[in-house]
Amino acid sequence: MAKHLNEFGGHWTEDKIEIFLKYLYAYLQIMKDRGFELIYFDGFAGCGTIQKEAGNIEALIESVAIRVLALEHAQRFSIYYLVEKDKQKANQLESIIKVSQKDQDKVYIVAEDCNEKLLGLANYLREHRYSRALCFIDPFGMTINWNSLAAFEGLDLDMWLLVPTGIGVNRLLQKKGEIPDAWFKKLEAFLGLT
Ligand SMILES: C[S@@+](CC[C@H](N)C(=O)[O-])C[C@H]1O[C@@H](n2cnc3c(N)ncnc32)[C@H](O)[C@@H]1O
Repeated sequence: MAKHLNEFGGHWTEDKIEIFLKYLYAYLQIMKDRGFELIYFDGFAGCGTIQKEAGNIEALIESVAIRVLALEHAQRFSIYYLVEKDKQKANQLESIIKVSQKDQDKVYIVAEDCNEKLLGLANYLREHRYSRALCFIDPFGMTINWNSLAAFEGLDLDMWLLVPTGIGVNRLLQKKGEIPDAWFKKLEAFLGLT
């Protein structure tokens, strides 16, 4: 049976997208005519489509990155930086964007680790004081390291960071307190604790 590249999705997915897009729309209104270079950074961009219900490959909706690119708005982003570590998904995202989306010359699709790209974005913002970023960070589990977020200290940006504790931290925090070393290391990297 055919499989979808991103095997997740449900009614909350659509709610999440709509809520984020409302914010993004307000963000663009606020930033209008202020002279900033605006960057949209999607750290876990996916393959371009999402299953409407888990397991159903017939009912697909467009992913956040595709919806952002399709947005009709007078004020738009100068750069759309889309990170998706999985090469197959990144290729599919690229092919969808090539077919249907405008502003293609402003789109960068990068098949690398979001943590490294966040450090790169922080450096860029430090060097370009008239640049502002809106980041949408939507990982599975505990993929983001605290250090990747700490790098933005003192910088101006808006970041939506979704933290799926149910499939991450909650599983590692054992009630009995018997936590293996490898899990401790993961918790330290995620929470920024020593
Ligand atoms: C929850 S999905 C993101 C869904 C996406 N926001 C959308 O609207 O379709 C997480 C995605 O992140 C990718 N991923 C996993 N680890 C990653 C990493 N370290 N850096 C970048 N992408 C990663 C996965 O392949 C997966 O497609």
